[in-house]
Amino acid sequence: DKFLELMNDNRIWFGKDGNSIPQLKRFLTDVQEGMVTKTIWFRTEVGDNQEAKREVKFFNDSDVFTTPKPERLLQRILTLASNEGDWVLDSFLGSGTTAAVAHKMNRKWIGIELGEHCHTHCIPRLQKVCDGTDQGGISESVGWKGGGGFKYYYLAPSLLKQDKYGNWIIEEKYNADMLAAAMAKHNNFKYQPSEEVYWKQGKSSEKDFIYTTTQFITVEKLDQIHEEMQPDESLLICCKKYSKPCENRYSNITIKKIPQMLLGKCEFGREDYSLNIISMPRNENEPEFIPKGPDKQKKIKNESSPDLFEDNNGEEE
Ligand SMILES: C[S@@+](CC[C@H](N)C(=O)[O-])C[C@H]1O[C@@H](n2cnc3c(N)ncnc32)[C@H](O)[C@@H]1O
Repeated sequence: DKFLELMNDNRIWFGKDGNSIPQLKRFLTDVQEGMVTKTIWFRTEVGDNQEAKREVKFFNDSDVFTTPKPERLLQRILTLASNEGDWVLDSFLGSGTTAAVAHKMNRKWIGIELGEHCHTHCIPRLQKVCDGTDQGGISESVGWKGGGGFKYYYLAPSLLKQDKYGNWIIEEKYNADMLAAAMAKHNNFKYQPSEEVYWKQGKSSEKDFIYTTTQFITVEKLDQIHEEMQPDESLLICCKKYSKPCENRYSNITIKKIPQMLLGKCEFGREDYSLNIISMPRNENEPEFIPKGPDKQKKIKNESSPDLFEDNNGEEE
């Protein structure tokens, strides 16, 4: 019955000559939701450079971004390539059009930008999208009234690099504090240096701590730290080198060498680096977006880390 029904509906195909094995015809409308792309996209449908410039002028009219894309163009692309709730990545954010449109179309987004215009163009624009004052671009057509938010992060330089002999070393830009923070992060500790106890730089629980140092760890040093520890406390020490007997000296102290311990966490030479995006924990005290540009003082200072991983005067490992 079903076959006859399909025959009557002209859904069965017997090949070009009419004598092949019958096949079911499937129309685009059966298999696709959404929109089929057209070959030519006219400026009347997706905008043009002038329209894009007019749009971005609203966010910064003293320094108009030179190569913006119109919001309608991004709307077309995101309609074709994504659904509500999907992630959209633009690793060359420019004036922030992709993120702005993705936000208005209820997509989640990640934007990456290395230029200063991240602060002068992207962030002000995205703030206006969130607070609903951006009524340009596609706002009216999608009924955008504002909502949502975003977080803003500085990317640190790569922690590891290879020297001219191919050995992995720590990037010189990392001073001692940055290194301690990075090691805490990589080992799932919260970086929170104690003001009283120098080896309590971060913790994973009330009793489990991390200590990163560029010093050579001797047995005497380890004993001294252990002396200060409570019996129910545990500690991970990340250091450049340590004396061999330190290794299993105390059951509640684990000692590891940087950068070897980091290399185990790195993924090199994989063909597929699928992005594993997890829901980021929400810190209630953290603002949704940071309105000001970077504090130049906080920028990475090369000069503060000249002696990082200096040689340790011939002491044995
Ligand atoms: C052509 S613009 C993008 C325009 C954007 N689609 C828009 O509509 O405004 C390219 C942007 O990529 C940025 N860029 C170039 N190399 C980069 C990199 N390695 N990482 C992050 N951003 C980069 C540039 O600073 C520039 O803002």
